[in-house]
Amino acid sequence: MSIKVERLGKTFFARIDGVDIGSPLDAETISAIHEAQLEHGVLLFRGQHIDDDQQQAFTAQFGPIEPNLRSDIEFIAPLGNIDKEGNFRDPDGTNASFLRSNQQWHSDSQFFKVPSALSFLRAVSMPKEGGATQYADTKAAWDALPLERQAELQDLVALNDLQNSRGKEGHTLAPEDRERWPIIEHPVARIHEETGARALYIGSQVTSISGVDDEESQALIKELFAHSTQDQFIYTHEWEVGDLVIWDNRRCLHRGRPWDEANEARDVRRTTTAGTGPTTENGKPVDEYARAQAA
Ligand SMILES: [Fe+2]
Repeated sequence: MSIKVERLGKTFFARIDGVDIGSPLDAETISAIHEAQLEHGVLLFRGQHIDDDQQQAFTAQFGPIEPNLRSDIEFIAPLGNIDKEGNFRDPDGTNASFLRSNQQWHSDSQFFKVPSALSFLRAVSMPKEGGATQYADTKAAWDALPLERQAELQDLVALNDLQNSRGKEGHTLAPEDRERWPIIEHPVARIHEETGARALYIGSQVTSISGVDDEESQALIKELFAHSTQDQFIYTHEWEVGDLVIWDNRRCLHRGRPWDEANEARDVRRTTTAGTGPTTENGKPVDEYARAQAA
């Protein structure tokens, strides 16, 4: 099967045609999709009306699929405002406030020591208006920094706290969530384990930069966040039912956009593949590319 790749964003985000993702893929097609994913960071597959089992099977062809921690559906995370019985979630409930922070710029599971590699999101139902997802190409953002600025930043490590993003939506982590997801360190810029390219890794969970005084630390977070999310690095995806988008959490940030949550269904379901190791060691960034090469 030969696939067609069409770049839609300025620096990343491509649409893939010529593949039926609901059926098992041959090795050549998997490899072509993998190459496209490394090059473009985010891939859109349109008109793919698959079910949860097919999404799970598709995902598992690109890496070890991760169990879903916040739902009793083993591998599928229902991230919209519809529960698995098809009812609207209580917009004032704890699940809703937890999920609403997905509207802040983030990389998935940035609160794990070993964050997810790829995310797969499928649109099952969409509101008439709103509910888009925006992606920011943090590799292009890193590449756009002057070399001397890159040199100043490349060994820095940031503290990531899930409560920081959840708190902005009025959500307080339950004690078991706080225990499961403590504050952790990630590099300010990660080295991609497959391409060796750096990408900024500052999402809404970042609270401070290690070893930098508080005022400077806050200014730096603000600067890098504003830099990464400039228009020139952003692609906005307007969903159609039957879309499935794969994104690389090591190379971009994303955020959902608001919609009329009380009245309109937005049913989106996510699967993820696991990362391969921690991003920091003894308070220093890990060269994830060198680690993968040595493995
Ligand atoms: Fe997300």
